[in-house]
Amino acid sequence: MKSATHNLRCTECGTVITGDEVNSIFRCPKCNGLYDVVYPWSENVTRPASGPEHNLPNASALRWLWQERRNSTLPIDQSGVWRFRDLLPIVSKPENVVTLREGNTPLYEMPRCAKAVGIEWLRAKHQGMNPTGSFKDTGMTAALSVAADRGYEWVACASTGNTSAAMAAYAARAGLRSIVFIPEGKIAWGKLSQSMDYGALTVQLKTDFDGCVRILTELVSRFPIYLLNSVNPYRLEGQKTPAFEMLEQLDWQVPDHIIVPGGNLANSSALGKGFMEMRHLGLISRAPKISVIQAEGANPLYRWFNDTNRIMRPVTADTRATAIRIGNPASWRKAANVIDKLGGWCEQVSEQEIALAKAQIGAEGVGCEPASAVTYAGLKKLVALGKVSPEERVVLILTGHTLKDSNYTIDYHRGELLTEAEEAQISAADKALHAGLRKPPIVLEPNPDVVMQTLESHMKVTQPA
Ligand SMILES: Cc1ncc(COP(=O)(O)O)c(C=O)c1O
Ligand SMILES: [Zn+2]
Repeated sequence: MKSATHNLRCTECGTVITGDEVNSIFRCPKCNGLYDVVYPWSENVTRPASGPEHNLPNASALRWLWQERRNSTLPIDQSGVWRFRDLLPIVSKPENVVTLREGNTPLYEMPRCAKAVGIEWLRAKHQGMNPTGSFKDTGMTAALSVAADRGYEWVACASTGNTSAAMAAYAARAGLRSIVFIPEGKIAWGKLSQSMDYGALTVQLKTDFDGCVRILTELVSRFPIYLLNSVNPYRLEGQKTPAFEMLEQLDWQVPDHIIVPGGNLANSSALGKGFMEMRHLGLISRAPKISVIQAEGANPLYRWFNDTNRIMRPVTADTRATAIRIGNPASWRKAANVIDKLGGWCEQVSEQEIALAKAQIGAEGVGCEPASAVTYAGLKKLVALGKVSPEERVVLILTGHTLKDSNYTIDYHRGELLTEAEEAQISAADKALHAGLRKPPIVLEPNPDVVMQTLESHMKVTQPA
């Protein structure tokens, strides 16, 4: 990380600019496209005629270096993002890196979920095990470090909750001030409480996420405030690193299929970039497929994917998985490119399917927030449609911690989450699964006989496999 050795390339028209030349909204002035960060070693970057091949980092040296850094006590080595800094040289000085030791998240075996869906090998990369409880930390450490590096005093974002929690935390660490726009009443309390606790100026707007983005765009156009939504391409540089870490955890054996929830569609784009960069550098010989799963009520990419004319039409989003309640996703074209280049599908899942999948992930002792559970619900669909075969090795990306939205979980177990009409649509087989999974608290008088009798009756019930 000697110097900032990167450029920004418009993903639509291909214009390349330096990092300093980008405007406050991170949009190409020629075509309104979003940028990707590119390096001298990136694919399709023109090198000087006598171009030094040493620009391409050596795969074995990188693997060795990344492993070595695990033994170091330096904060940037302990970070599961900056440990891979050779592939994200975006900050001019290492001392400007703002880290909460993000990344280093577990890759869990999911044997019961695998069996239930009829595949042999299933893992969950739990990005909810990050410092603020979501995958956003991996992106925020990267982009907020750039903000600090560039000398900004204020940062801002619009958020369905997790971005604001991450931004507020990293801004606080760096001694920067932060402004958060969130849709009023449409985010989980756990997330809102985090941004207040980390000292952000929190503004609840009487609109949805897409409305918050419009106000934020005005704000950063008028004031020297650094935009930290995922249109900021440095966020994606951090969010690509779980792909590296996952491969390390799998001893560089590439899985066949990665399943990611889709909201604003930056995360699927970032992971795709990570896998493609690893393939380009020879760290892996092939990349996995990436499938994106959306909630039925917030499904613009799913509609685009199934539209023969391939026209993107924003929707008015509505789902209880509030983190992905996004109708006009900024990074849809990047995500569509990833699906196109790596293969994979876009599926949608219903509220009932999300609730069941979340309970099944919880019953495996893992747990996640509703938006993350769309991955397992989507996997069931992909298997049923024959798009994932039983021998494929599949990784679900669980994006948020179960405690982010405990109201959802409590409502589910009390049987108060879904409406009667929604319950009525559940198949008999799924109803039986729900019945075995729902664990509402039992309220009893403190009478030993009553307690023992009640427990005995419950202990006789066999657990679902
Ligand atoms: C928990 C969770 N899962 C998934 C997403 C969707 O990620 P993306 O917006 O990058 O598609 C978000 C954020 O929007 C989120 O907070
Ligand atoms: Zn452009």
